[in-house]
Amino acid sequence: MSVKTAIYPGFFDPVTNGHLSIINRGLHVFDNLIIAILHNPQKTPLFSVEERIKMIKQSIKGQPRIEVDTFDGLLVDYAVKRNSNVILRGLRALSDFEYEFQMALMNRKLNRDVQSIFLMTDYKWFYTSSTIIKEAASFGGDVSGLVPKVVNEKLKEKFQQLKKT
Ligand code: PNS
Repeated sequence: MSVKTAIYPGFFDPVTNGHLSIINRGLHVFDNLIIAILHNPQKTPLFSVEERIKMIKQSIKGQPRIEVDTFDGLLVDYAVKRNSNVILRGLRALSDFEYEFQMALMNRKLNRDVQSIFLMTDYKWFYTSSTIIKEAASFGGDVSGLVPKVVNEKLKEKFQQLKKT
């Protein structure tokens, strides 16, 4: 049987427990996962790419079947470059559906050999996203339990730093 590698793409600004849940479940389906962080110079992320990679690596604790990488340009081109034909995405609320559907169809139009596979998020992470977690944390809200410990610490550090500047 051939080894199946899936690409799990996103901004991961920062990685959340919802992402980790999809990653762990993805490992039950695929042999290897490549977590692919989009490097988009037009967006101003809270965390640099280096910080995001570090937080992901600390959160997955050396799991040998996971690689963390960055990409720019088209996702389907990156998948081909990495010898994969599967894009793994998590689906949360109904509101995700339209965007994910659109993205999957566009990716399919761009390359019919690359398949998009979706895993429903666990009910625990149904309402969370990196964006809403950052917003709550920026006002001092307690987001523990929604992100890995290392991310929680980094969020506190980052918003304290930003307050000072
Ligand atoms: O974290 P996100 O916002 O859910 O990630 C979105 C991402 C990075 C998967 C998506 O924006 C993407 O794949 N961008 C790469 C550019 C691309 O291939 N665009 C065409 C398909 S929409």
